[in-house]
Amino acid sequence: MPARFITFEGIDGAGKSTHLEAVAQRLRDGGDTVLCTREPGGTPLAESLRELVLNQPMDPMTEALLVFAARRDHVHQLIVPALARGETVLCDRFTDATFAYQGGGRGFDTAVLRQLEHDVHGTLQPDLTIWFDLPATLAAERRGAARSPDRFEQQDIEFFERVRRGYQARAQAAPHRIVRIDASLDRASVWRQIEGALESRQW
Ligand code: TYD
Repeated sequence: MPARFITFEGIDGAGKSTHLEAVAQRLRDGGDTVLCTREPGGTPLAESLRELVLNQPMDPMTEALLVFAARRDHVHQLIVPALARGETVLCDRFTDATFAYQGGGRGFDTAVLRQLEHDVHGTLQPDLTIWFDLPATLAAERRGAARSPDRFEQQDIEFFERVRRGYQARAQAAPHRIVRIDASLDRASVWRQIEGALESRQW
């Protein structure tokens, strides 16, 4: 069984969660055992930390440490064991989100984030990251006024433009791992780009 680790990234409102489900279905149809999970979260402890990160006021360093604490538990309890069993793991956000949101959005020191990345999950990196990229104004329109916004969704357009630039920087540094999808297009066009990325890897 091919153990693959695929992550889904983008600013809030980019539409990644719908497509994550479609990728899971496609890979299951191809015979993979697929585990879908998310960050912050994925284990009972990490889900408790998610509640805090999304809802409690805190400074950027506390925020960065909590998302990495959640990740540590998630990687060790869920992701690594699933990959060891030969499963395909699809994760809604991973460390690129920390560089984008805490690094880009909040302006937290990316050198510290790089050290934490190394200490928390060593050589484990996604085999593929699907990055849903679109202008922050369009993402805000898509988010609309639905449900009660969390601490991140309450941020202004400038915050999300900084997050977007954070993703851009990560993508430039890892062009083979991170595939940029133009998420400003309609759903069918977005899906075609994702299929292209999977097909080019013969997945
Ligand atoms: P999100 O994945 O968008 O879930 P939902 O669709 O339920 O809103 O929400 C998670 C939020 O957490 C998102 O706004 C980005 C933020 N986040 C960080 O700030 N840093 C991180 O490292 C991760 C994984 C997420």
